[in-house]
Amino acid sequence: MSTNRPLRVAIVGAGPAGIYAADILSKTGLDVSIDLFERLPAPFGLVRYGVAPDHPRIKQIIVALHKVLERGDIRLLANVEYGVDLKLEDMRQFYDAVIFSTGSIRDAALPIPGIDLDGSFGAADFVSWYDGHPDAPRTWPLEAREVAVLGAGNVALDVARVLAKHADDLLPTEIPANVYDILKASPVTDVHVFARRGPAQVKFSPLELRGLGHVPDVDVIVYPEDFEFDEGSMAAIHSSNQTKQVVKTLTDWTLKEPEEFTASRRIHLHFLHKPVEVLGEDGKVVGLRTERTALNGDGNVTGTGETHDWPVQAVYRAVGYFGSPLVDIPFDEVGGVIPNREGRVVDVDGEPVPGVYATGWIKRGPVGLIGHTKSDASETIRHLVEDAGGVESPAQEFATAAEPDPQAVVDFLVARGVQPIEWSGWEQLDAFERALGEPHGRERIKVVPREEMVQIALGTVRPQG
Ligand SMILES: Cc1cc2nc3c(=O)[nH]c(=O)nc-3n(C[C@H](O)[C@H](O)[C@H](O)COP(=O)(O)OP(=O)(O)OC[C@H]3O[C@@H](n4cnc5c(N)ncnc54)[C@H](O)[C@@H]3O)c2cc1C
Ligand SMILES: NC(=O)c1ccc[n+]([C@@H]2O[C@H](COP(=O)([O-])OP(=O)(O)OC[C@H]3O[C@@H](n4cnc5c(N)ncnc54)[C@H](OP(=O)(O)O)[C@@H]3O)[C@@H](O)[C@H]2O)c1
Repeated sequence: MSTNRPLRVAIVGAGPAGIYAADILSKTGLDVSIDLFERLPAPFGLVRYGVAPDHPRIKQIIVALHKVLERGDIRLLANVEYGVDLKLEDMRQFYDAVIFSTGSIRDAALPIPGIDLDGSFGAADFVSWYDGHPDAPRTWPLEAREVAVLGAGNVALDVARVLAKHADDLLPTEIPANVYDILKASPVTDVHVFARRGPAQVKFSPLELRGLGHVPDVDVIVYPEDFEFDEGSMAAIHSSNQTKQVVKTLTDWTLKEPEEFTASRRIHLHFLHKPVEVLGEDGKVVGLRTERTALNGDGNVTGTGETHDWPVQAVYRAVGYFGSPLVDIPFDEVGGVIPNREGRVVDVDGEPVPGVYATGWIKRGPVGLIGHTKSDASETIRHLVEDAGGVESPAQEFATAAEPDPQAVVDFLVARGVQPIEWSGWEQLDAFERALGEPHGRERIKVVPREEMVQIALGTVRPQG
């Protein structure tokens, strides 16, 4: 027997993965009513709070995501946190299926001595700060002249670039005023990026890497003695156009003459240096010890025992992100993901948990671009629709919610003192931020304090702009 009402689906997390999942589900032809939950007062996840402010082209993906939500057929319920404001058993009361798209926001651990010293930071925390995340501190101690960034992915590049860039070159972006002021006062002169493997093993995107070479008054310096290519490296260069481009850019930089380095700030890219200890004095970072590595032949490395100490006063680890467990939902502690088979969440015995799905970084780990979350979402939605019995006649057994009326969940939240922010609320906040930016010729200036965001979105107080 088929249902005689729309299926009710909740999606938890309004980053790109959640929004793409909502969009794809809404277009399957299934009779469905979708609520999109978000713990922050604003949607868009890492596109708003991760993508670097000086990447306006990528920030523009928000325009496409905005268009999906402004249609009105997907209801946004922001400022509502799964696990705090409602849990799985509550969800089951109001929804027939729940899709988790909560992403990864923590830094992966780097268990080396000294990593907890004062002056040692996680990239994710720094990114949240410069992108104006409401949960990040308002200030940041930018006191170091020499800084180490550990890791050779695109986040390491973002962090190194933001640290090295002159604040005035970030001013046309949406950075909050407190971030500009602190960056402006930074005494930094040298940022050292350390890759534990060779130039053919870095995870930089070609475009991102080339962009580093165009930062005003910042020289990029590489060291010819770090350029080693084993058989694995050659195979990678031949099989991947991206690797070929990255290696070419890096190799071209080795040809620069010392007199070409005239900038007041420098980014040094070091390869085959594995971080082994953050050095401290009186509890504060005073240096970084790296061990020289050698390529094994397959693109992996082993330590040579030769160490090098670098005088730095701050260390940022950019060695990847890691997912966080969610209340009552299975969690893979090793991978930092919700265990799943192609988006169907599975329990410890590998059995599917009925009506529970995952997509995005929390489904497959913190790797990949925004666009990848779209294909991810397609797979998850395909399985949800299959489980529901197809788009034509969804099965009665799938429609398990006791209170499917869309108002019921809002009443439940309000009775708990939660103030959900719907799309119209985000539109108010969006307009407010744009108005803040306008007199300065900037597209927007972000509002950072959570309370202020909520008040603007709910129209309860109009703070002074
Ligand atoms: C620093 C950085 C820069 C990046 N720059 C680029 C780039 O330039 N170009 C590019 O293509 N890709 C970039 N990426 C990758 C891109 O951001 C990811 O591929 C993408 O954001 C993953 O989407 P997601 O929806 O899975 O996770 P997220 O974007 O993290 O979204 C998850 C959402 O879930 C919400 N949430 C979490 N827990 C709960 C809860 N309990 N209840 C309710 N809501 C919750 C979060 O607040 C968040 O809004 C970058 C990544 C990082 C880390
Ligand atoms: N502009 C953009 O397009 C953009 C910007 C930011 C992020 N992103 C995307 O977001 C995703 C996450 O980026 P990310 O930079 O966090 O992750 P990433 O691409 O996985 O890079 C992580 C880096 O950390 C290194 N690392 C891991 N453990 C280490 C250890 N113990 N010691 C030393 N180094 C270690 C890795 O080296 P090994 O390779 O040796 O393991 C790798 O170089 C990526 O897919 C990225 O492309 C895209």
